[in-house]
Amino acid sequence: MLRFPQGFVWGAATSSYQIEGGWLEGGKGMSVWDAFVHTPGKIVNGDMGDVAADHFHRFREDVALMAQMGLKAYRFSISWPRIQPTGRGEANPDGIRFYSVLIDALLENGITPWATLHHWDMPITLQLECDGWLNPEMAVYFKEYAEICFEQFGDRVKHWITLNEPWVTAILGYGQGHFAPGRVSQTEPYIAAHNMLRAHGLTVDAFRRKFHDRCGGIIGIANNCDWREPLTDSEQDKQAAQRALEFFLGWFADPIYTGEYPAVMRERVRERLPVFSDADRAVIKGSADYFGLNHYNTMYTAHAEKGKISHIDMESNAGLVDDQELALTDDDSWPKTDMGWNVAPWGCRKLLEWIDRRYDHPDIFLTENGCAAKDELINGQINDQDRIDFLAGYLRECHNAMKNGVQLKGYFVWSFMDNFEWALGYTKRFGLHYVDYRTGERIPKKSAQWYHGVIKNNGIF
Ligand code: GAL
Repeated sequence: MLRFPQGFVWGAATSSYQIEGGWLEGGKGMSVWDAFVHTPGKIVNGDMGDVAADHFHRFREDVALMAQMGLKAYRFSISWPRIQPTGRGEANPDGIRFYSVLIDALLENGITPWATLHHWDMPITLQLECDGWLNPEMAVYFKEYAEICFEQFGDRVKHWITLNEPWVTAILGYGQGHFAPGRVSQTEPYIAAHNMLRAHGLTVDAFRRKFHDRCGGIIGIANNCDWREPLTDSEQDKQAAQRALEFFLGWFADPIYTGEYPAVMRERVRERLPVFSDADRAVIKGSADYFGLNHYNTMYTAHAEKGKISHIDMESNAGLVDDQELALTDDDSWPKTDMGWNVAPWGCRKLLEWIDRRYDHPDIFLTENGCAAKDELINGQINDQDRIDFLAGYLRECHNAMKNGVQLKGYFVWSFMDNFEWALGYTKRFGLHYVDYRTGERIPKKSAQWYHGVIKNNGIF
């Protein structure tokens, strides 16, 4: 049996657009995702999040399910256009009320709320009027929105995450166009990322100066990263793997921990990589109380010269492979999740150790980890043993990383319940709870019962 330290945070996560529905209710404005999914051809099966898991109406039932499985912490996101329908100006009282009641319900059930301020559903008006994250002013708008949230919820929310996975917004939203706002470019990802980092920095600065004395609490960002294992022992491949990690996670974490982008990015991206002003650096450097990490996948990495990279590799490396000169592959013997992602728990341990070394031993929270599986409802039950095996494998390697000195303080399963899986619509199921999208009925899966046991025993069997 593996025991985790007392106080280890056992959580599960969701995001607003993926579960709430109520897309035009309660005074909510439209987000870039509302617009994106209503654009024919963007989402598998033409699926949309208009209703999603209907959490907007059924949140009390969901909190009851959380309590039933002994969940200690719940990570959710606040929909910016629910709070500010046009992204700027007055707050929407109905939006405030919705999250306020949700937070109270969590606290009444002994569940600690972890609030993400932005999980991709930016108000569409900011995209139309200002070009979204390409506009430097976005950092100020985001900070102003965040201040409304600190003011309204800071008395009860003590754990904040500014942005979820800015890498995904930059690469899939502004590079490949697979996600909202659907831009395709080799230049814009770097600009969007830069402005997201500036937004994060300004927000953390405001939190610390204006709210922390009164409300307390901790704040950070949730960055995503896969592990990159050198394909061979050659120096070239080892360097390629290191470069891949710096382009992936270093891109966002280095500025926060050192005030600069990784040198390898500066060398390769050159004038397309923006430069931080002194004022930017002053708020970005040191702007995380903990290291938030979302982790799902591992791939082999090899050096590959420009022009010799196949189209498939380019896709898997987010279209920016020319800047990185590497090729990603996987091993046929590795089990795959229903997303086609590799199950390689050792990659999680190696990544945690890489972060520990590079960023000088920070407190780390795994803010997302989990897997999609083909969950079949048989006699009203879902026996998702694959998911249990996945979670047990990853938790075991988390435990190993901790034995090796990594300061891992908590773990959030993605996801608390089945939800709208972005461009893949409702075709993938990640949840500990099954959702019948016709009736809205929720059914705890076997993994929910298993995780209940883990939480109760503060460890796994
Ligand atoms: C993350 C994202 C989540 C969820 C998950 C599984 O990148 O933050 O919203 O969709 O991947 O694909």
